[in-house]
Amino acid sequence: MSFLKTQKYSAFVSLIAIVQALQSGRIFREDKFRRTQLRLAAVNGEPLPEYCKSWFPIGLSSEEIDRPLSVTVLKKKLVLWKSVDGWKCADDVCPHRAAALSAGKINKDGDLTCRFHGWSFNAHGACSKCPNALDTLPKIGLSRMYEVREEAGLIFVWMGDKQFDASTDPPIPVPSGNFTNDTSWLVTIPGVSWESMIENSLDPTHAPQLHEGTFFSADAIPMKNFEIESSNTAGLKLTHSGYSTKNKDMNATRTFVAPCLVDVCYEFSNGKKQQFPLYFVPRTESTTTVFAGGLAFLPRTSIISRFFSDLAHIFFFTRESLWIFNYQDTQIMIGQDQRRNNFKQAAFSPTATSPSDVGVAALQSWLNTYGRPFSGVVSSSPSHSSSRWNIHGRHCSICTRGLLRINALQKQTSRVSFLAAALSISTLFLFQLDRLRLFAGLALFALLTSGFSSFLLKTRKAFLKGNKPTHDLWIRSDVFPTAAL
Ligand code: FES
Ligand SMILES: [Fe+2]
Repeated sequence: MSFLKTQKYSAFVSLIAIVQALQSGRIFREDKFRRTQLRLAAVNGEPLPEYCKSWFPIGLSSEEIDRPLSVTVLKKKLVLWKSVDGWKCADDVCPHRAAALSAGKINKDGDLTCRFHGWSFNAHGACSKCPNALDTLPKIGLSRMYEVREEAGLIFVWMGDKQFDASTDPPIPVPSGNFTNDTSWLVTIPGVSWESMIENSLDPTHAPQLHEGTFFSADAIPMKNFEIESSNTAGLKLTHSGYSTKNKDMNATRTFVAPCLVDVCYEFSNGKKQQFPLYFVPRTESTTTVFAGGLAFLPRTSIISRFFSDLAHIFFFTRESLWIFNYQDTQIMIGQDQRRNNFKQAAFSPTATSPSDVGVAALQSWLNTYGRPFSGVVSSSPSHSSSRWNIHGRHCSICTRGLLRINALQKQTSRVSFLAAALSISTLFLFQLDRLRLFAGLALFALLTSGFSSFLLKTRKAFLKGNKPTHDLWIRSDVFPTAAL
């Protein structure tokens, strides 16, 4: 009897073993297939397929813009525009004669209009207007439309070849907590590879050293713990302790939600919390689009709050301190990009001699298992990232609009100031000292308007200025020459 029982038991165990073997064979075959795909993509220099099967942020929900925008994701040039039916995204190429549609405009029906010969395309990508057509409209439409969704204040695009399938495809990566469509995000496009950017966000102990001035190296303390809570296809979850006397009691989590979000949460012993969600969108091998959230700008719910939010944005973005911080990071990373392809093991897969390197080591091991967005990294020119206009202003509708308004206002103010000065002098000649008050009033007005005009001129310059270090408080010029580091 017991012999029979043992036999049944053995048969059952064997059955499970066979099923498992078949299953692992399938997994192995799938894995092998995926790796072959990755290798093929790497050979062709194309973005790797696993990365294409994802949602990426490409713009801000709050964008108030009446022209199409050019965006690049995984080396694909796309055009984003707001139709009557909401945000739309397509390949940035006109089906007529291949002009860039992002150079066009939006017509009064909300259709995308090509600048070259004026063909228009509706929200479904079909040709809706052709100025040169005699009777029927051309049958050709936009070559490919991409699925677009709004989440947490950002516009996401689905880059997969097939339509998004919620039952099998990865969801939109969103930060933890309550990020609504009114959330403010800041966009920057530094000339730094995706890999260096993601690594930097998982390497907190560089902050007190590199960002001397904003933080202080004298405050740095060795990090006690840096643990990997999970590492799987969805990404990485890391926890760590403080690394400076200012945050020594904190518990931090850094969650990398593949392929583009790093959600940083700090929890202090007094119960205070801070969150810094960062999206890193692989643009090209040498550039990354960054969306930074959690900054305390006003929500954009009404005309008044939008006005003050724009003002806060412009004030924030013309601050020298922000750009010095940014400059310190980008120049170090451009230098890393120059060395990355030849110098991989020693510098980019640290063996974690201290807990502080665990984040970077965990990321490198994740990338070695699941792949990178591109087969290599290309370093960009340091001068691109030295210009705040290149990095941010030209990609930001608030800054471009602000700059145009400041320009127009400055011209008008300087005209008014000139006129007031001329009038005050004429008053002096015409009435001599009889109208002293009028003369003094006009002269004062001329002085004030000219002061305001030079303030506007200074603000305009601040928009377009390079962000090279200007004084020793932030960065020492002997340590940081102006070329790439
Ligand atoms: S190329 Fe676009 S209308 Fe001709
Ligand atoms: Fe801006």
